Amino acid sequence: MYKRPLQTPLALADLVETAIPEDERLWVPQSDTVDFRPLLFNTTNGEWINLLRVRGGGQLGRHRHASPVYGFVLKGTWRYLEHDWVAREGMFVYEPPGEIHTLVVEEGAEPMITLFHVLGSVIYYDEHDNPTGHDDVHVKLELARAHYEKVGLGAEVAEALIR
Ligand SMILES: [Fe+2]
Repeated sequence: MYKRPLQTPLALADLVETAIPEDERLWVPQSDTVDFRPLLFNTTNGEWINLLRVRGGGQLGRHRHASPVYGFVLKGTWRYLEHDWVAREGMFVYEPPGEIHTLVVEEGAEPMITLFHVLGSVIYYDEHDNPTGHDDVHVKLELARAHYEKVGLGAEVAEALIR
């Protein structure tokens, strides 16, 4: 019987990173209060994994996912305007595809950091449910490449996270 070798020439390199970095430049700004720390870009199947950080209170654009999202809260608290539960440190959150929600961190709350594993696209909507834009692994990768270039780390720091 054929036995698959443990290592093949096509095997992807493993990826081991300090997720919460000491170098502040690794956080990619998304707005005045929101930034993300990319951990993995899968440009083949469209998934990405990142830490989302919100400081000083803030809101993420109202959005819907085409595919599931998995979250794990590392610090702080946040909630969705559309739900009555609160995500707290240590909690796991599953976001089913299809629902529209708006992530908020209350003004004056301690900074929040949550690991999000996102599959597929994030589509943003205005209050009348008209699409206004989108994020996907390619958009996130370009944001990270541009930011790392700008702050002197080099785009290759983002490209090293591609699998
Ligand atoms: Fe979401």
